[in-house]
Amino acid sequence: MLYSFLYSIVRPILFLLPAETSHDLGLKALRLLHSIGLVALLKPSIPAVPTRVFGLEFSNPVGLAAGLDKNADYLDALGALGFGFVEVGTVTPRPQDGNPKPRLFRLAREHAIINRMGFNNKGVDHMVEQLKTRQYRGIVGVNIGKNLTTKVENAVDDYLLCLRKVYAHADYIVVNLSSPNTPGLRSLQFGEQLEALLKTLQAERQFLSAQQQRLVPLLLKIAPDLTPAEVAGIADTVRKAGIDGVIATNTTLSRVGVEQSPHRDEAGGLSGAPLTQGSTAVLMQLAKALDGSMAVIGVGGIMQGADAVAKRQAGAALVQIYSGFIYRGPALIAESARALQHG
Ligand SMILES: Cc1cc2nc3c(=O)[nH]c(=O)nc-3n(C[C@H](O)[C@H](O)[C@H](O)COP(=O)(O)O)c2cc1C
Repeated sequence: MLYSFLYSIVRPILFLLPAETSHDLGLKALRLLHSIGLVALLKPSIPAVPTRVFGLEFSNPVGLAAGLDKNADYLDALGALGFGFVEVGTVTPRPQDGNPKPRLFRLAREHAIINRMGFNNKGVDHMVEQLKTRQYRGIVGVNIGKNLTTKVENAVDDYLLCLRKVYAHADYIVVNLSSPNTPGLRSLQFGEQLEALLKTLQAERQFLSAQQQRLVPLLLKIAPDLTPAEVAGIADTVRKAGIDGVIATNTTLSRVGVEQSPHRDEAGGLSGAPLTQGSTAVLMQLAKALDGSMAVIGVGGIMQGADAVAKRQAGAALVQIYSGFIYRGPALIAESARALQHG
């Protein structure tokens, strides 16, 4: 298959460069190829696996996870690769630089990534402009967060602002409380803080939906570093809040499986192969606790089609990939879609 062959040539070149340089270069190259019509020509053949979730029609259940295209600058090119949906962001109200570089590390032997990007993005106004001019007609989710300089106790203001600005331009919206790289953010996943935050956002969503005559699904994205009791607590709160779904999971603070890597002590979230089992375990606990009351998207360590099938067996209606896409290229989209079609 041509695209697998091409990626097998391109990947070693990209992997010679520092991780963030190759990330930027890879996306720019993809956009260039798309602008001259080559992406559509070279893209893997992906089976149509129509999937209806949140009242939305997905061409297949394999999406791109948040964080690869933080500003929706590459949406058309990424969409042309055949993803069933693309999630852009995390976007914050104001532009911010994120953490100092280096902040992205490849653990090639472990098929993993550690990142402490820290929500580097161009701000929500830029994102809205990009979304307005998009050509991609597939499903687009927008993942929203808070600025580093906004105090955790005022986080709701940032989420409200982003929700209002992106509402008219998103197919679904994700409240991201699970990045390990924004101090204090994960504390909002629990108890009264979560309840209050979701209540406010849900009320605003109802208002916007009445005003714009269009109900945009609202989702929560959670961390994998949760005890079963914490997962049960979150399930209870999201049910009461009446939001539409949960994305499980973000990256992990655990370093199990990467003990031999020279990068093991880098601060940040670990993703890829070492995350697969832990993330799927949290997904399964969550899906059980939700008992079909809302849909769950499974993400975390999908490196092959069988991992996508395991997510579905654990209760995911849709899946997303990030690290596996970096290691395997577009072939993983096709492989996962095929596995979910037959699995
Ligand atoms: C470099 C990098 C940046 C990320 N940025 C974000 C982000 O901005 N928002 C978010 O919700 N998740 C972000 N993620 C997490 C991914 O969306 C995903 O949940 C996680 O990597 C697990 O999936 P994977 O094992 O397929 O990579 C990021 C992941 C990586 C590797």
